[in-house]
Amino acid sequence: MTKQLTVKYNDVPIYDIILEKDFSNFLSVFDTIRKEQGIENRNQPMFLNKKVCIVSDSEVSSHYIKDIIKSLRDHVKEIKTFTFTAGESSKNLDTVYNLYDMLIENNFDRKDILIALGGGVVGDLTGYTAATYLRGVSFIQVPTSLLAMVDSSIGGKTGVDFHAYKNMIGAFHQPKAVYINLSTLNSLTDRQFNSGLGEIIKHGLIKDYDYYQWIDANKEAIKSKDLSVLMEMIDRSCAIKRDVVEKDPKELGERALLNFGHTLGHAIEKLMEFKLLHGECVTLGMVAAGFISYQRGGITKEQLIDMERLFDYFNMPIRINGLLADEILQVASHDKKMESGKLKFILLSRIGNAVIDTTVTRDELIGAIQYILN
Ligand SMILES: NC(=O)c1ccc[n+]([C@@H]2O[C@H](COP(=O)([O-])OP(=O)(O)OC[C@H]3O[C@@H](n4cnc5c(N)ncnc54)[C@H](O)[C@@H]3O)[C@@H](O)[C@H]2O)c1
Repeated sequence: MTKQLTVKYNDVPIYDIILEKDFSNFLSVFDTIRKEQGIENRNQPMFLNKKVCIVSDSEVSSHYIKDIIKSLRDHVKEIKTFTFTAGESSKNLDTVYNLYDMLIENNFDRKDILIALGGGVVGDLTGYTAATYLRGVSFIQVPTSLLAMVDSSIGGKTGVDFHAYKNMIGAFHQPKAVYINLSTLNSLTDRQFNSGLGEIIKHGLIKDYDYYQWIDANKEAIKSKDLSVLMEMIDRSCAIKRDVVEKDPKELGERALLNFGHTLGHAIEKLMEFKLLHGECVTLGMVAAGFISYQRGGITKEQLIDMERLFDYFNMPIRINGLLADEILQVASHDKKMESGKLKFILLSRIGNAVIDTTVTRDELIGAIQYILN
């Protein structure tokens, strides 16, 4: 059932994304390092003369850290674990300092490896620590939330929040491998699963009409977490994210298309004080951006309503109350996507194709926000 994708920069392979239904092939995450060191066989005992630190959160570690330790035990020099309280509130420099302390106390050096086992919070924080500890050590992504599998684990964006500012401190640092065990989705709550689906539907909307139709046609199987359908879906979404980041590794151009729904979504996320999940806010942002796309003739009214129906099928919010259009706009305008005084907005020129637009007017934005307000 294995699937594998390779991420390349300038045609040079950098790392593999490995999709499995369990952890039995976990040692394959060391293949790049193993080959670099001329080690022949990954199954021989102690084949890596390295220490490994598994970083995870309180929720995910209780389910899966034992499996990872078991598969590594006989093959690496030493295994340490570092666990922090689950949730966005841990994604800060305090947690990074604690992790630095632990690595220093245990004499981790530049040849040693960090493993990020968890959702986007664990991946971003571990990646940032790996980017900065001793000017950069290797790390491996083991994403366990749907959002992390198809989005945050790919592309090398790492970072932490700083006071109220999300992802304010960060670095680009590519992992040595991404290992996705689909079965970990069984312990994820339905709400978190659906939140990740928001990003997946976004991939179809911005890049691939066939894929969008495929998601719609397979929605029952997706909802019931049919493993072979999830495998195809995650493989296709990872390929879309991979293709975008390969063309624009440092987010200077096309990668901005992945921000479809994010400008207004982030503003709603902030104003709701993170009571709604990221994917839920992005869904609301996508409906609003879809509304402007419809008004500009990019998509039809029927297509906008179909989009909303699909989000609604997965219990994603498509309308919100308790906020004012003006306050959403004000927060969005201060968002980092403001470029030379102009709001950079992602619209659909058709289903399956997104474009960057800097001409969206204040009236259009107010109209779109009013559309999603109850
Ligand atoms: N680096 C990037 O390119 C990028 C892209 C998108 C989002 N992000 C970041 O990702 C973060 C959001 O990621 P997330 O939604 O995965 O959040 P998260 O890491 O907080 O995970 C959500 C919750 O699900 C739990 N969880 C994760 N996997 C589980 C599993 N298999 N079983 C049971 N529980 C599980 C976690 O413990 C947590 O409570 C944000 O901080 C966001 O900024 C980064």
